[in-house]
Amino acid sequence: MNDSNQNRGQWSSSVGFIIACVGSAVGLGNIWKFPYITYENGGGAFFIIYLIAITLVGFPIIISEMVLGRHAKLNTYGTFKELSNNNWFWKLVGLLCIFSAVTILSFYSVVAGWTLDYFFNSLVGNFQSLTFENAGPRFGEFVGNGEKQVLYHTIFMFLTAFIIYRGTKGIEKAVKILMPVLGILVFLIACISFYTYGASDTISFMFNFDFSKITSHGVLEAVGHAFFTLSLGLGVMIVYGSYLPKGFSLVRAGIWITIMDTLIATFSCFMMYPIIFGTQMEVKESAAILFTTLSVQFNALPMGNVIAALFYLLVAFAALSSTISLLEPLVSFIDETYKINRKIGTIIGAVGVWIMGIASALGNGASEFFTSLALMDKLDYFTSNWSLPVGGMLISLFAGFFVSEKAKRDEFTETENKVFFKAWNFTIRFISPLLVLLVILYKIGVF
Ligand code: TRP
Repeated sequence: MNDSNQNRGQWSSSVGFIIACVGSAVGLGNIWKFPYITYENGGGAFFIIYLIAITLVGFPIIISEMVLGRHAKLNTYGTFKELSNNNWFWKLVGLLCIFSAVTILSFYSVVAGWTLDYFFNSLVGNFQSLTFENAGPRFGEFVGNGEKQVLYHTIFMFLTAFIIYRGTKGIEKAVKILMPVLGILVFLIACISFYTYGASDTISFMFNFDFSKITSHGVLEAVGHAFFTLSLGLGVMIVYGSYLPKGFSLVRAGIWITIMDTLIATFSCFMMYPIIFGTQMEVKESAAILFTTLSVQFNALPMGNVIAALFYLLVAFAALSSTISLLEPLVSFIDETYKINRKIGTIIGAVGVWIMGIASALGNGASEFFTSLALMDKLDYFTSNWSLPVGGMLISLFAGFFVSEKAKRDEFTETENKVFFKAWNFTIRFISPLLVLLVILYKIGVF
């Protein structure tokens, strides 16, 4: 992707596009967040609601975002503006989308920074003394260390801005190699965990569909996470789709993204749960399980510190290919709306997000004031569970009712038009928005 809108950048190939989208989708949401929220929400029932949401809401909306983007060839705000004929409401939706992306990025970058610390310390062998007892306190100490938190957040924002500044070709290449390696590593580590601690507790936890365990909060969280993990609801895929040349199947891309993303999330649980159940470790802070389970378990493996370093480095890469997708909407908005040079836009955007992120970086014990605000939790909760589903619902309705059928059909191949189009169009008009609405009404206690 590069420069201005008369001569919009394009992905180097259709495979490049899928890779960038998978890169955006697979990230901390899969490896850090999904295992811990599934754990908190009691497993099976949560998992199945999540799978239903991915299929009936997530997948159709991915296609909608891409259709909108490729059709309008503009950033999120520009797409809404253009296709709604300058309607104020839809322009506001476009702006809110960009703002939510930036908000997510502000805390996401802090968590991404944690993976860098775990990478460095594993590499130099500092974690060889970690045990299941002291891993939790070590983590607590680390996130409470203000200087380190700000330092890693800064490094991560810098890397994100650097890649957007230099153009994304490099990361396309890196992700192409690193993402499959990450997938294989996650799979292998899951096998080792199963082999070492047994599979039965984990399997029964993940596949016991006991709906009495689920609350309205859990339902909303599962649906919110379906959006979060697929990078939906903010128009990120609108921006990515806008760089995609015609003639390439969006449906194929959507299927790939959904399957890869779900597999990585599921196997991430399989890496950690056997350790938790097998050692009966006490999980005080579930949001830390990526760091407190595996970092210890790696010690038992030959060359454990190297495997650990590789693993956390790959997670950092997965996070990086997600953070660039969170900054890109703002940068392309600044570029296309104010005609400010992309590079300057990148710097303005990154500095703004960096400042916002300080509140999250200092909010885990480093500063009393920020800790009492607990912004990271609140921002995560609010954006994932409210902004994304509501944004996604609006995007779905917009694509459903504001774009002519002919324009939409144009974005599909001939076969897809015959077998897929009607079902998709019906789903994004009625089924996906209605399901999100029902979940929201359920959560606010209407029934
Ligand atoms: N999907 C990413 C993850 O799972 C996070 C992410 C990247 C995202 N871009 C997004 C979430 C846009 C919502 C919207 O880690």
